[in-house]
Amino acid sequence: SSPGKLTAELGKMQSELDWRRAEGQAEWRPAQQYAVNVTLDSASAHPSLEVSQDDRSVSSRWAALFPAVPGDPQRFTEQMCVLSHQCFRTGLHYWEVDMCQRSRWFLGACLEAVARAGPARLSPAAGYWVMGLWNGCEYFVLEPHRRALSLHVLPQRVGIFMDCEAGKLAFFNVSDGSHIFTFTDTFSGPLCAYFRPRAPDGSTRPDPLTICPLPLRGTPVPEEEDGDTWAQP
Ligand SMILES: *[C@@H]1O[C@H](CO)[C@@H](O)[C@H](O)[C@H]1NC(C)=O
Ligand SMILES: *[C@@H]1O[C@H](CO)[C@@H](O)[C@H](O)[C@H]1NC(C)=O
Repeated sequence: SSPGKLTAELGKMQSELDWRRAEGQAEWRPAQQYAVNVTLDSASAHPSLEVSQDDRSVSSRWAALFPAVPGDPQRFTEQMCVLSHQCFRTGLHYWEVDMCQRSRWFLGACLEAVARAGPARLSPAAGYWVMGLWNGCEYFVLEPHRRALSLHVLPQRVGIFMDCEAGKLAFFNVSDGSHIFTFTDTFSGPLCAYFRPRAPDGSTRPDPLTICPLPLRGTPVPEEEDGDTWAQP
């Protein structure tokens, strides 16, 4: 395409990024006061997953037994996930997950009752509000059908904000507070945080998914305050 067209494209991309950032931060900053240190319930973990001693990280254990096949990330026929100890029926809750360079993962929330029903459940994605990364470049949400998200830059840390009464689950890029996606639905029961490192990772960086400890914040976060503490180390 012509240089003029390219410049216009780049301009469009830039303004989209700016918009995501401005829109996102307006929601993301106040969300942080609802921070909760969720922990992983290792009893809920699929046997292929390894939960760390401190219940904050999960990785896939049997990578060698799951040869990399071109898979269909929308299938939820096997619950290779782990849930949080905490399940929420009411209120506002915010947590963050660091996926480092991991090339495949699913994150979000699910109905406790549905997830605990076990692997026999075959219907895809009902009761799950999940976004994911597939093969390091393809972002998507399941609603319940797979829908691609256009993200130009890969977040390394994702913030998840749950509003039980409003039926919202929002995802943010923690590096700059930009908005990624929001599900709006009716939550018919308690929701747990959902983590699925998605075996096999198939990459050279099988990093675990790690829940970030968050500071306790009693009051709304003022504009422009300490942006740096939320950046990547
Ligand atoms: C998201 O996060 C990455 C780093 O993890 C950053 O480089 C990027 O600019 C962020 N924002 C957007 C809008 O993608
Ligand atoms: C999370 O845990 C850390 C200690 O690891 C603690 O300092 C912090 O206050 C906790 N945050 C919340 C929101 O409870």
